[in-house]
This record gives sequence, structure tokens and C-alpha cells, in this order.
Amino acid sequence: MPEIDINSLIRQNIRNLKPYRSARDDFEKGLLLDANENSLGSPVRNPLDLHRYPTPAQNTLRKKIAKWRHVDYENIFLGVGSDEPIDLLMRIFCEPGRDSIMVTPPTYGMYKVAASINNIEVKEVLLTESFQLRPKEILDAADQSTKILYLCSPNNPTANSMKLTDMVKLVVSFPGIVVVDEAYIDFAKQESMVPLVQQYPNLVVLQTFSKSFGLAGIRLGIAISNPEIIRVMLQVKAPYNINKLTADVAMKAFENMALAKFNIEKILEERDYVAEQLLQAPQVEMVYPSDANFLLFKIKDALQVYHKLAENGVIVRYRGNEPHCENCLRVTIGMPDENIRFLKTLKLIIG
Ligand SMILES: Cc1ncc(COP(=O)(O)O)c(C=O)c1O
Repeated sequence: MPEIDINSLIRQNIRNLKPYRSARDDFEKGLLLDANENSLGSPVRNPLDLHRYPTPAQNTLRKKIAKWRHVDYENIFLGVGSDEPIDLLMRIFCEPGRDSIMVTPPTYGMYKVAASINNIEVKEVLLTESFQLRPKEILDAADQSTKILYLCSPNNPTANSMKLTDMVKLVVSFPGIVVVDEAYIDFAKQESMVPLVQQYPNLVVLQTFSKSFGLAGIRLGIAISNPEIIRVMLQVKAPYNINKLTADVAMKAFENMALAKFNIEKILEERDYVAEQLLQAPQVEMVYPSDANFLLFKIKDALQVYHKLAENGVIVRYRGNEPHCENCLRVTIGMPDENIRFLKTLKLIIG
């Protein structure tokens, strides 16, 4: 394993950064006349003192999440969705116009979008036809400029998990930061990479409240990594990135974990039912194995089917333009009646 000096991977301007500090970093109670808030309050009745800024570090929520994931709160960064840390990591480690990231298509599109916004080159090493990683090719394609490797497991849009041994091999051998996006991990049979952040300083695991918690609307994402990386992320983020409403709902979610777990089980049951039903249609050539809350399937004339589904008010994603995904559609598992409506509409269209 090459010795990784995380500090030397960080952009010079970030290493030199004097982070913004608000008085709330030091004081949360007292006569609060420090932040130019409207002390008379808002016209919206609320129990959360919304006329006050939220706490910058969100330590209470970080501690709650840390306990749930069996890490220390210093391993936890909270972002506005996981889309925020995807972008933030590029801004910390990649010099615009000079450095690159690596992605493994077909995969989640935001890695490339965030790289474009930040003027960072994107190197691509395709997954195999069975949607697995090619560690040797990835390592061969990386050069000195390649600061971050984005892996996604379970992967969107292919739905499968990457082999744990391949991901560990890459974390061990890749000479930069390895981000493993685990947005769908709570639906997966495969284990999370989170325990490995204690061992590998270059590993960052991303998770989110948008999927298994069913809280896409509150925009809360999590990055789990070693305290050195988390500290820099906290310095670079906007001072009050997690708002009070989001934090409040997230804390309440922990009071009803049994329901979250029940819903996950229900989605998995429904997913297997939808897969089984899809396979009965002769036009469906393949339903790919899923470790997530959606299915990727190959169907004759997929683009036409996609448009006809939309005309009937059933919206899925056409993924046929992605590598190895010719004629593929991606469907999210819905409520039982929604799944039945999807299947019925599809059968009506394909005859
Ligand atoms: C793999 C993957 N990562 C991240 C996200 C975005 O998650 P968030 O809602 O936390 O920004 C998605 C959303 O679809 C996703 O599929």
C-alpha cells in the first residue's frame, strides 16, 4: 500500500484557508446580538426559533448519526444531500483546470456534472458488461493528476453492488481519495465500507437520508471518513449548511427506526415481486440483479416504451444511452398499488 499523506493531496489554497468563524462556533446561549438576526421573530409560528441561525457544527445530529453507524462524531460530515460532499471533495482536492477525477460508467451522473462545474477533467473506466469494477484498468488509467476515484455501490443505474474485494483493493492501491457512494446501502445484502474508514485514511463513504429513510425532501447527506478529511470539509462548507428544519426532522426519524426498517423490508419484497412480473413479459430480455430500491431492465424498443409509459402518466428513466445499457429502463419501486399500475400499464403498451 502506498503511504498516503492526505494533507499533501489537499489544494494549496485550501491548506492555507482561514475558515469563516461565527460567534456561534463559540457561544450558543446568552443575549444573542452577534449575528444580525431579527430578534423579534418571524411571521411564521414555529417551535424551532427559526429567527436564529442553526448551529454551525450540528454536533448533536452528528453524534446521533455516528452512534447509529458505529463511528465517532468526528468521522461524520453532514451535507445538503450527498450531492454537497460530492462537490465539496472536488473543491478540496482538485485544482481546477489541472487535476482530474475518475468515474466508472455507467454510474451516477452528478460526479461528472460536479467535475464540469469545477473545471475538473473526468477520466472514465467502464464497468464490465456484468457491471463490475476493473481494478487493474482503473489503476493503470490514473495518473498524478487523478485526485479522486468515485465508486458507487450499490450502483445507480445498474442496481448491483460492486465486489467488496475490488473496492478494498482500490482503496489500498489508488494513490488518491476513494469515495464510495453508498446512497442505497440500507437496501443491500452486501456490507457497508464504513468500518474501513478507521483503517484507510483515503476512504470517504457517502450515505444519505434520501433513500432508506425516505427523507429526500429534507436534503441531508452524510460523508464518513477519517477526522482529518472531515475537519477540512467542515472548514470549506457554507457556515450554516444544515438548516434547523432538516436537523429537527432527522432527529425525529431516529425515534421511529422500526418503521424505517419495516419500509425497507416492504420495498425489498415489492422489488422482488416487480422483477418476477417483469420477467414474465417476453419483451423483457433481462432484469438485472438489484441491491437497491430500483430495478434496471432490458426491454425491446425501450425508448418507445419509455415515451408510451410517460404518455400514460408513468414516469421511469430511460438509461439506454449509458454504456452496456442498450434498451434499458430504470424503475423505482413504489407503493404496492403504484407497482401494480406500472406493471399493468407496461403490459398494456407491449401487448
Ligand atoms: C448514487 C447516488 N448518490 C447520491 C444521490 C443523491 O443523493 P442526495 O439526495 O443525498 O443528494 C443519488 C440520488 O439519486 C444517487 O443515486
